[in-house]
Amino acid sequence: MASAWLDDETDFDGWRQAARRFRLEGVTPAEARFAVRGAAGQGSLFDTPTAPPVEASQVGELRVPKDFVDLAREVILHRSQDRFDLLYRLLWRLGDEPDLMKVASDIDVCEAMERAKNVSRASHKMKAFVRFRRMEDEAGEAWVAWFEPAHRVVEKTAPFFQRRYTNLRWSILTPDGCAFWDGEALTYGPPATRDMAPAEDEIEEFWKTYYASTFNPARLKMKTMQGEMAKRYWKNLPEAALIPELAARSAVRTEAMVSAPAPEPNARLAKATAPIHERGPADGLVASSLAELEKGVQGCRRCPLWRDATQGVCGEGPRQAALMVVGEQPGDQEDLAGRPFVGPAGQVFNAALEEAGIDRADVYVTNAVKHFKHEPRGKRRLHKTPNAGEVTACRWWLDQERGLVKPRVVLALGATAGLGVLGRKPAVTKERGEPLALEGGAAALLTVHPSYLLRLPDAEAKARERELFVRDLMRAKALL
Ligand code: URA
Repeated sequence: MASAWLDDETDFDGWRQAARRFRLEGVTPAEARFAVRGAAGQGSLFDTPTAPPVEASQVGELRVPKDFVDLAREVILHRSQDRFDLLYRLLWRLGDEPDLMKVASDIDVCEAMERAKNVSRASHKMKAFVRFRRMEDEAGEAWVAWFEPAHRVVEKTAPFFQRRYTNLRWSILTPDGCAFWDGEALTYGPPATRDMAPAEDEIEEFWKTYYASTFNPARLKMKTMQGEMAKRYWKNLPEAALIPELAARSAVRTEAMVSAPAPEPNARLAKATAPIHERGPADGLVASSLAELEKGVQGCRRCPLWRDATQGVCGEGPRQAALMVVGEQPGDQEDLAGRPFVGPAGQVFNAALEEAGIDRADVYVTNAVKHFKHEPRGKRRLHKTPNAGEVTACRWWLDQERGLVKPRVVLALGATAGLGVLGRKPAVTKERGEPLALEGGAAALLTVHPSYLLRLPDAEAKARERELFVRDLMRAKALL
């Protein structure tokens, strides 16, 4: 019998050196014994180990496939008593069977692979189930966890926590050994006991409340859950204390959920998924009235802007208005109200109309684009200028509004409105104020958009531009 002492349960280097030496000396697997110094139950067998700890220099050349070394590193972490023997048996057999590691059906290879898989699973569970508790020491805040891994995976898994919680000071205490991260170095220490870790902390109740509120009784599958979260881990998971009660009540809660009246469907989802005939008249509708046109706009899918808008915003005003004013697109408030120019730009517009001596009630006010284009920024929806494709798609409706209202003058506010009205991108500053002939005999006028006046930071420039804007409105009135 040839025996070797290993320094500890995961002493891979010690095992490797002893195993190499045994192999080179022709010690058969039946004769080889490996024992861990100080491990329970091994004293009597190994009181006098025949092979003292071996120095690397004593060990001769022995080539083994890398696959084997990688596998052995994992298998050593398995809790089984006979893992050293299994690995030595494989090493021994590799002498005559150099391709042994490729034979997945071989009983020893298969066993070693299974144990490596168990080790890998234990490491994965450690990543998932370690629960840190906050505490304070003389150096400040520290996070401490007590964990009982299925196999000896502390050192294998600690680097994961180092990467994940680099900025915290933490310790993971286990019955096999401990891992410590102080923000600079990862170190390991001897085994700990459960009472060395805090039993709970002040955020534990929040965590439990969160867990209970995310628990869906209708989706409870006890077996699957235990497959993922084996019962052996429960005692160290604060949330696991809730599982028996949550599970016991799940049938009653599921019943209540099933018999509760169905909630209102999500309006946006319903809009997106409704069959086209339920959304409103088809996109190509030719409307015979403004009311019909309004319905067509609500069902419009000519461009994607409808998706994020609350609703389409059509024009408003007298059916036979002589003056039509065209803005760019509804803003945030218009989108919610379903009416054009009711927000901040609308205030500027209304005041300028009044100054120009025009009653808004006599004007048909609309927009080149009927849906609000925006992007979310926190809780706000930020205006985005519609592109030429979107403006062109929406001309389908603007042209019909013009056809139904038949205004004598169409005043376009800004370049986007100009594109909608003229069908080409205008040079607003150059073309401003000059009547342009439209198909059907009406005259188009261009001016700036009222939101431009709102954005001007300089009070003097603002007053000057406002005056020019009012002058353009008066010009439009004069053309009627
Ligand atoms: N800006 C526009 O162009 N139209 C509106 O309806 C509101 C703001």
